[in-house]
Amino acid sequence: MRDVPPNLAILGLQWGDEGKGKLVDLLSARYQNVVRFQGGNNAGHTVVVNGQSIALHQVPSGALHPSCFLLVGSGVVLNLEVFREELNRLAERGFDLSKRLLLSDKAHVILPHHIALDRWREGGAGKVKIGTTGRGIGPAYEMKVARMGVRLGDLLRPETLKDIVRTGYEEVRLRLGDEAKDLPSLDAIVADVLRWADPLLPFIGDTQTYLMDAWKKGQSILFEGAQATLLDIDHGTYPFVTSSNCSLGGLFTGTGLPPKALSKILGVAKAYTTRVGEGPMVSELHDAVGDRIREAGREFGTTTGRPRRCGWFDAPITRHACLTNGVDGLGLMKLDVLDGFEQVGLVTGYRDGEGRVSNKLPACAAEWDTLKAEIKYFPGWEKPTRGATRLEQLPKEARVYLDALVESVETPIAYLSTGPDRSEGLLYTTTFLEGML
Ligand code: IMP
Repeated sequence: MRDVPPNLAILGLQWGDEGKGKLVDLLSARYQNVVRFQGGNNAGHTVVVNGQSIALHQVPSGALHPSCFLLVGSGVVLNLEVFREELNRLAERGFDLSKRLLLSDKAHVILPHHIALDRWREGGAGKVKIGTTGRGIGPAYEMKVARMGVRLGDLLRPETLKDIVRTGYEEVRLRLGDEAKDLPSLDAIVADVLRWADPLLPFIGDTQTYLMDAWKKGQSILFEGAQATLLDIDHGTYPFVTSSNCSLGGLFTGTGLPPKALSKILGVAKAYTTRVGEGPMVSELHDAVGDRIREAGREFGTTTGRPRRCGWFDAPITRHACLTNGVDGLGLMKLDVLDGFEQVGLVTGYRDGEGRVSNKLPACAAEWDTLKAEIKYFPGWEKPTRGATRLEQLPKEARVYLDALVESVETPIAYLSTGPDRSEGLLYTTTFLEGML
């Protein structure tokens, strides 16, 4: 086992829900610091404590390892009420974070009128539906960019808070028109925010300096990505994306650390593809096979409970994500879900209306609609992969499928997950993960 593991980013390579939580949970035991750097409570990472599962939306997944220091960077948008509830639930199960938590004073606060605006936009005829999680994520980021946001540091000066909240609040009222009558008053919002913030005030501080010092001292840092590259505001399937940079760039803006502080990038993908919400998904299967993947993989949202759209592994999107993030190795999850299928498909490219096949991703949503999946089929495997912990336990058909997958994304598999438990998985090839799991 290594003494100090490399500073590592764990990033999603599809449309989220790849199983990043399992890997962060497995690896964070080795790390002194675990950092969230973007997203908010649209994320849902399930971790298992004493046989009971707990869904974390905002608290970094290292919470269950008492030696991990937990940081929430400036790129995150935080729902204070949800964060506080998460801390309480963890405390009830014996995880006291009070001496190992720091929240960036530059992180933004999700406010009730952001949530109202998100839901208003998504409801009603004629509006562009993104299928958001309805948690106010988009409006909170918009307010940040429009310079009307409220930051955690502002909560430390309650006397000026009302004025800071007011600008964004008035703007949302204008947009909501008649429906603004259902919004709580400005005074009520400020009072709620102060009440939710109160127990969190001792944790607000300068995460950038903390991380910089940790890095200089040679402490290990694990960067926990939320959502995934295809949901990235720049590199995803715009406009059907979230409002943050969930790919590698967001790590640096969302922590204030320079690229040199990062050593390795572990990209996480499922052995098939899922997506929640609207937007292009060329690999989607609208048939019994798609339903079977959903049932076998229990593909229902952690945050919203929505059924996920399912399809075969989509090599073009995952290859794009590997390139965008400079992925050193894949964490390939949920191979066991494909156990028992007669044949297993791999989307190797997209065919356009003119019959041309490519593995390039279009920039515009309308162009995506013209594409059809080019699927290569492989024989399925009778012997289950579930619970495999050694390469030799994998059926040869599964190895053939995995080799083709690796070739299509031009990235080696570092870790292969064969079931939800911590013990179910194996190191597939020799990579930086050697000696860390
Ligand atoms: P928002 O992040 O709530 O604005 O939602 C924008 C899009 O991102 C929607 O399609 C959501 O379903 C999707 N999304 C946001 N967070 C996650 C996640 O953690 N997993 C999967 N999809 C997500």
